[in-house]
Amino acid sequence: MSEETAIGLKCRLCGKTYPKEALNFCTDDFGPLEVIYDYEAVARTLSREAILSRPRSMWRYRELLPVDGEPTVGRQVGGTPLVRADRLARELGVSELYIKNDAVNFPTLSFKDRVVAVALSKAVELGFQTVGCASTGNLANSVAANAAAAGLEAYVLIPDGLEQGKVLGATIYGANVVAIEGNYDHVNRLCSQIAFRFGWGFVNVNLRPFYAEGSKSMGFEIAEDLGWRAPDHVVAPMAGGSLIGKIHKAFQEFERLGLIDGPVKTRMHGAQATGCNPISATVRSGASKVKPVRDPRTIAKSLAIGDPADGYFASRLIVESGGWSEDVDDESIVEAMQLLAETEGIWAETAGGVTLAVAKKLIEQGRIGRDESIVLCITGNGLKTQEPMLERMRKPIVIRPSLEEFEALIGTSHARADADAMAAGVV
Ligand SMILES: Cc1ncc(COP(=O)(O)O)c(C=O)c1O
Repeated sequence: MSEETAIGLKCRLCGKTYPKEALNFCTDDFGPLEVIYDYEAVARTLSREAILSRPRSMWRYRELLPVDGEPTVGRQVGGTPLVRADRLARELGVSELYIKNDAVNFPTLSFKDRVVAVALSKAVELGFQTVGCASTGNLANSVAANAAAAGLEAYVLIPDGLEQGKVLGATIYGANVVAIEGNYDHVNRLCSQIAFRFGWGFVNVNLRPFYAEGSKSMGFEIAEDLGWRAPDHVVAPMAGGSLIGKIHKAFQEFERLGLIDGPVKTRMHGAQATGCNPISATVRSGASKVKPVRDPRTIAKSLAIGDPADGYFASRLIVESGGWSEDVDDESIVEAMQLLAETEGIWAETAGGVTLAVAKKLIEQGRIGRDESIVLCITGNGLKTQEPMLERMRKPIVIRPSLEEFEALIGTSHARADADAMAAGVV
């Protein structure tokens, strides 16, 4: 195994440094802590050749992830497809469109498997036997599954009223699932208290600096699969606002190491639902502070974080990168989910609908150029958020097992034309 490349934690506000421990805020100014690396040490072993020689998982970039030694949790996470989406591109009137499809991530079908793989590997390293999270659903699923596989005790706290697929997708793994009467921000506050009272490893509380780094692997994979380049535009869904920043950080780290050509000029665009849009409202108003949304209401429950931990940094990055942020209503979200499914055969969860609907808006506004390269981050799977689609989708037509009934159904003339063509050897 390569030498330790993550060398400590640093406050994003004042720069004070800390050792690698389970701590997420600066004790001087309460600023968030971030992992720092020795990039010279990284460069000694991380090259394009080294990456290509390793298995296709997020760990092929292990020098840029804050786990010392071999990862012990989530060893197969990542390596999801970057799909060239030409049929969807035609619908949107653009020429170079890709979908980073984390709806098929392993083991729990969302990008959260990336952050959890890092956080729980770190939790094991630091000696935690009990772990937990505050979640809008996907994180709950991933912590529950990965903790089960690692033999860790898990406490998973969610707001009451999440989709059935998300709830079942946590309880099935035997985790202690606790639903809180309130929204995500209530859950998050309670988790901070629990983590410090009980001394447990909460992935997005005291392990947050390590956890957040896992999202960079999505950016590394995008750049590698584009042939070692960063795209012109990325559209990413935002809840706490961490993912979007880490994708950008991934491109910058690749540039710094000479793995892609610089300077990185990717415009980062953030997507939210209108019913919970604290970051997009900040970008659009030009405000310097994020105003929390007190009562989030949207079918995109995975993005319903009213007081986003990384909202300030996300809004700043979006503006500084030359990107933009929009939000979309529930009707646009389900329409986009359907469009993605019908054009590319990808069933995304509601967050994916948010991403595509916002991308469409940004293209129509001219903020995303029609001839530029665009990556849409699809971060979760539609099987887990079936509720908003159930009413909307056509029910299957029921017939008896009879050819006559089938012919009557599709129209006799249509059936005969096909049969004639088949006889003539046309099809
Ligand atoms: C499917 C999905 N996409 C995107 C996000 C947003 O991630 P972040 O909180 O890092 O902004 C979440 C967060 O829960 C999510 O579940």
